[in-house]
Amino acid sequence: MTEEQAPEERTEANATPTAETDDEGKPMNVSRRDFLLGAGTGLVVTAAGAGGLFALRRPASATPTQAPAPAQAPAQAPAQAPAQAPASVTGPTLPATHRNVTLNIDGKSHTLVVDVRESLWEVMTYKLSMASSNVGCDRAQCGACAVLVDGLAVNSCTVLAARLGRGQKIMTVDSLSKSANPADLHPVARAFHEEGGLQCGICTRGFIMSTYALLTHNPTPNEADIREALAGNICRCSEYPKIYESVFRAAEDMRKKA
Ligand code: FES
Ligand code: FES
Repeated sequence: MTEEQAPEERTEANATPTAETDDEGKPMNVSRRDFLLGAGTGLVVTAAGAGGLFALRRPASATPTQAPAPAQAPAQAPAQAPAQAPASVTGPTLPATHRNVTLNIDGKSHTLVVDVRESLWEVMTYKLSMASSNVGCDRAQCGACAVLVDGLAVNSCTVLAARLGRGQKIMTVDSLSKSANPADLHPVARAFHEEGGLQCGICTRGFIMSTYALLTHNPTPNEADIREALAGNICRCSEYPKIYESVFRAAEDMRKKA
């Protein structure tokens, strides 16, 4: 083959058959240049994402209205969900660990949010700024934190505040005094004051509340009754003789008053 023969032998019929025919050998109405330009356009389409732009290359007769449907569906779903959710919320939502409760303490209602793990003592002290009870052990062993719930002495360091929002009546030592004047004290509180039933005072509020619970159920207790009723209260200063004297004195004063 000579250099002059080669161009002549490459007729348009046989020199570029793959560029102008499809895989089945049928003629195509595109040139190699058209094909390369088309391939370049295809890369851009691929890089841009086949979702929306692929529809732009479809012929007008290829039902273009159905092609965008998959792209529109996910776009509408997340847009509607957040818009509908707040409409169904009727009030403030709380974490699963919190409750909205109303505590009745010394005849006054306190509505607040509490953590279900908070003790009554923690809520009264830290959330209601009350100084109505002392904490000694913080583990139900000393009774220093005692308050009454529906007339029964309980350790406020251990009972959960979230359990006391059903109308229970919580009573602290504040209910037993109108002022710091001894004349304004309830007979139980005044007896401890006048008989000296305390030393450091850490345990005193708890002893007073346990004594009040005893005397409202038993106006004439003997020493065994007192020891049993106050068994849950510990005085680290060991003021027990004066504490018992205070209980006898309180019982006497309450009987006189009745
Ligand atoms: S502080 Fe509550 S029992 Fe000791
Ligand atoms: S007076 Fe101090 S603990 Fe009782």
